[in-house]
Amino acid sequence: MEKNFTFAPLITEIEIKHRIDELAEQIAKEFGDEEVILVAILKGSFIFTADLLRSLYQYNVHPQMDFLRASSYGHSEVSSGTVKITLGTTIPLNGKNILLVDDICDSGRTLKSIEATMKEYGAIKVKTCVLMDKPSRREVEYVPNFIGFEIPDKFVIGYGLDYAEKYRDIPYIAVVQHN
Ligand code: IMP
Ligand code: MG
Repeated sequence: MEKNFTFAPLITEIEIKHRIDELAEQIAKEFGDEEVILVAILKGSFIFTADLLRSLYQYNVHPQMDFLRASSYGHSEVSSGTVKITLGTTIPLNGKNILLVDDICDSGRTLKSIEATMKEYGAIKVKTCVLMDKPSRREVEYVPNFIGFEIPDKFVIGYGLDYAEKYRDIPYIAVVQHN
């Protein structure tokens, strides 16, 4: 079957790698010698998180790792910006510093809600890091602490981000263009 869409490259592999090293340096400064748990928000952030973790190694930051999955309620049902955690973390977060890692900040609901949940779990410091930010799409007031790239309001895929659960394997970030 013919595909009725194509991928237009937006951010190259080299640009991603470079920027991740800069982010890792900033994050290392933020946490200094403090212990930190990296909490990756699945599934989209898994490749970014793996590369960020290995870049942090260069700055002598050796975080613990945990994962969670979240799903937002359908738009009409959302009045409070509620996001449901469908797979929780396993490391106790009480008294810990956390760096939440997501692929992209869109409406802002996911990070805002999960940050609040982490604090309810007793985390001391919660910082957030995203590979990409689409500030023009914001529905709640939210600014991630560490942002890789600010991008326009376009649907992007690759480097962990999916289009109908596929194309996470593409090593760069691309915009989906419908023919
Ligand atoms: P929000 O900030 O709560 O609206 O949601 C962010 C989530 O929406 C991200 O973690 C992605 O899973 C998904 N998302 C938003 N924009 C895109 C995109 O352009 N491509 C793929 N996933 C996206
Ligand atoms: Mg996601």
